[in-house]
Amino acid sequence: MKVSLTGAAETLLAPLYARALDARSPRPLLADPVAEELLAKLDYDFSRLGMRQSSAIGVALRARYFDQRVREFLAAHPEATVLHLGCGLDSRLQRIAPGPDVRWFDVDQPDVIELREQLYPPRPHSETVAASVTDPKWLARVPTGRPVLVVAEGLTMYLAADEGPRMLRSLVKHLARGEMVFDTYARFAVRSTRSMALFRQTGARLAWGVDDPRELERDVPGLRLVKAASAYATAADADLRHLPLVLRLRLAFDTEVLSRLPLLRRVGHISRYAFGEDERI
Ligand SMILES: C[S@@+](CC[C@H](N)C(=O)[O-])C[C@H]1O[C@@H](n2cnc3c(N)ncnc32)[C@H](O)[C@@H]1O
Repeated sequence: MKVSLTGAAETLLAPLYARALDARSPRPLLADPVAEELLAKLDYDFSRLGMRQSSAIGVALRARYFDQRVREFLAAHPEATVLHLGCGLDSRLQRIAPGPDVRWFDVDQPDVIELREQLYPPRPHSETVAASVTDPKWLARVPTGRPVLVVAEGLTMYLAADEGPRMLRSLVKHLARGEMVFDTYARFAVRSTRSMALFRQTGARLAWGVDDPRELERDVPGLRLVKAASAYATAADADLRHLPLVLRLRLAFDTEVLSRLPLLRRVGHISRYAFGEDERI
């Protein structure tokens, strides 16, 4: 299947490739079998994305961290709605395999959803939404009155600086109560990505940076920060033990050394926010 995505949409191929590299490794961290299957179906030169095994580890750890939070939320709220924003070709829905009372929405731009629908068969209690996440019209399809988990991995940095907070304000306004989990890059990190192969090759530009996750409590009334983790701090010791030595050293350096440097600690965050009246969320 020929892939004709460009710009921000094309960037989804990098984390997809990373998850396939992880699945191929002797001791996968995420172990996503679908990524490998999709790769075999796509006619695309993945080597142009500049993704190496060491970066793939970071992507797999990040995805696993998000998956874990989705599982925890659904264990506490089996009748929840999940909004998976900027889903790309990620198989989070298949990995989580939620129970029958969960409603799941995979949202991305129309050209991505068109490709996604050719690769994934329809699944009960789930639907795809072909829309920009910044256009609140699609929210009319989301049922109200249920706890909602909004999950957005690798999305916020592609939004314009005014669009990101506006999108969050619409979500808080429309949805009764719930939680959001998403990653952000600091402003200097957003500016410094231009020379990276992924952005040179795809033409995508990052725009929205967040230096301190608490900024969003001010910009988005009703949002309460629950936890912000450094993007470097998602690895557990057990992750390191079985990796080849070179990768182990690289990852240990990232997690043990880089995460202690104040500047790099601020490169990016994965943050959880609660919203709505229900304090139990
Ligand atoms: C780096 S990819 C991440 C994809 C997926 N979350 C993953 O981890 O594999 C960024 C995704 O954000 C999507 N995206 C960027 N801007 C968007 C927008 N305004 N509305 C919907 N999706 C958007 C892109 O189409 C792309 O699928």
